[in-house]
Amino acid sequence: MKDKISVLFTEERIAQRVAELGAEVTQAFAGREICVLGLMKGSLVFMADLIRRIPLDLTVHLVRVTSHREQGAGKVQTEIVYSTAVPLQGKDVLLVDDIVDTGITLSYLLAHIHEHGPRSLKVCALIDKPEARKIDVHPQWTAFPVHEPIADQFLVGYGLDWMERFRGLPYIGTLPRPARVGTPQE
Ligand code: IMP
Ligand code: MG
Repeated sequence: MKDKISVLFTEERIAQRVAELGAEVTQAFAGREICVLGLMKGSLVFMADLIRRIPLDLTVHLVRVTSHREQGAGKVQTEIVYSTAVPLQGKDVLLVDDIVDTGITLSYLLAHIHEHGPRSLKVCALIDKPEARKIDVHPQWTAFPVHEPIADQFLVGYGLDWMERFRGLPYIGTLPRPARVGTPQE
């Protein structure tokens, strides 16, 4: 399976982009204390690298969004779970996301966070696939925008998974699309 992965962004290129984003985020939040909220699990590796490039006072929290279709009803139930009680009110929040695809997950989460009354809320995404968007939502920062036809491939590595696999790859690679619905093969 791993031999079907083609390298899209190397470890060096990612490190360079993360350093650039860290500098931009640091400038944008200068003098503030930030609450960094990582969207599990895909953004874990990105967030771990990014926070080390932001020399400001910050706290780190995790959030998970799960969706499942209700049996028969065809209705999608979405649930948001925070790692610990996160005091978002009055805070400058930086949400770190892995991939913004249709934008459904991100917009749902943003609406939820806004209800908590943060002072500001900004998004830093690892990958943006703008052509797949169903809901108009734009991250303030994106490490790598990915367009068609590459956006049609499945991205793995550097935290991104295919059926929970490949998160530990140090680079970001592409898997041919049929793998999305297939069963794992060696
Ligand atoms: P959205 O709600 O369609 O924007 O879903 C975005 C989520 O789908 C991301 O947080 C990923 O977990 C997952 N996702 C979308 N495209 C990919 C991909 O190419 N590789 C890995 N995960 C993906
Ligand atoms: Mg995922």
